[in-house]
Amino acid sequence: MPKVLVSDKLSPTAVQIFKDNGVEVDYLPDLGKDKEKFLEAIGQYDGLAIRSASKVTEKIIAAATNLKVIGRAGIGVDNVDIPAATKKGIIVMNTPFGNSITTAEHAIAMMFALARQLPEADASTRASKWEKNRFMGVEVTNKTLGLIGAGNIGSIVADRAVGLKMKVVAYDPFLTPERAQTMGVEKVELDDLLARADFITLHTPLIDATRNILNAETLAKTKKGVRIINCARGGLIDEDALYQALKSGQVAGAALDVFLQEPAENNPLFELPNVICTPHLGASTTEAQENVALQVAEQISAYLMTGEITNALNFPSISAEEAPLLTPGSSSPKPSAPLPASSLKRPLPASRSSSRAVSPNSTPSR
Ligand SMILES: NC(=O)c1ccc[n+]([C@@H]2O[C@H](COP(=O)([O-])OP(=O)(O)OC[C@H]3O[C@@H](n4cnc5c(N)ncnc54)[C@H](O)[C@@H]3O)[C@@H](O)[C@H]2O)c1
Repeated sequence: MPKVLVSDKLSPTAVQIFKDNGVEVDYLPDLGKDKEKFLEAIGQYDGLAIRSASKVTEKIIAAATNLKVIGRAGIGVDNVDIPAATKKGIIVMNTPFGNSITTAEHAIAMMFALARQLPEADASTRASKWEKNRFMGVEVTNKTLGLIGAGNIGSIVADRAVGLKMKVVAYDPFLTPERAQTMGVEKVELDDLLARADFITLHTPLIDATRNILNAETLAKTKKGVRIINCARGGLIDEDALYQALKSGQVAGAALDVFLQEPAENNPLFELPNVICTPHLGASTTEAQENVALQVAEQISAYLMTGEITNALNFPSISAEEAPLLTPGSSSPKPSAPLPASSLKRPLPASRSSSRAVSPNSTPSR
């Protein structure tokens, strides 16, 4: 029976899923934080389920003599040395869709918070100031929302914004006209979006093409008084340029869940009253945490029991039917040995080689 270690805090339902799937599981939610004990224990496990606290370094991977799969409940895998895992033939999976709705809802919450200056109005009221005239807001109805990135999260934001009677214009080079039509958004070029949007919300990965996509030059092309929301990745906005644009009034307000440096502690943007900040809370709801935990337990179990690969970052997806054909030297569908590192070096198909796990235009799986 394959054995899995859960070394971070994960829902009890996830632990039950492992058991129901015939996988032995050790739930040791504090082990990942204790480097020495983690190193000592890892050798006995076939699978590892983590969140962000366990650091799966090269050293841990070297000691993981039986490990075949690492599953991250969530998206970010900065805490896993993927090249080291790949060299050893260990599959690294994440759960890219479990928190899409939650993150989209955070972006919408940030938009309303900006429109009505909710954090400042709250602080002022608690300070017994009752400043009714100071907090004149704006409606979102009939306003234009500029969506940069129309993938899993962006498309949910668009759906909610359309429901709020907003006009949505989307810039995403991979968005097809058909998909734009289904989403009820207008596909536009970036300059057009910048010129027309009352609110701009970012939902792209951080890659070379998107780094500082909002910078001094692009911010200068925005409608004066635009409000900007970033619940995607720090680094998509040039923070110095945003600071200047907020000071000058070119940008009326910004709501940021993500920062260039995280944890963000001494960010100059904190000085500005027209900035709303949250500490990377995009995925932080009970529903999202439960979703990603269940999803990772299902994915790890499926790989260990049938060889099925889903949402791997270093290997293409393989169905349970295809898996036995690819498992070297075995008629059993079970991945009794890790897949050879050479097979993990196969180039990923285009649709999975970026940080996107599915075609940007596919319907999000919830
Ligand atoms: N704040 C949080 O806690 C939190 C939670 C989940 C996801 N995220 C982040 O949200 C972002 C979006 O996630 P997702 O699941 O929707 O990803 P996704 O891959 O489904 O969508 C990203 C979209 O960006 C588009 N894109 C790629 N290059 C682009 C470019 N140059 N210009 C414009 N669009 C481009 C892609 O075509 C795709 O449609 C990611 O950066 C992800 O890491 C943040």
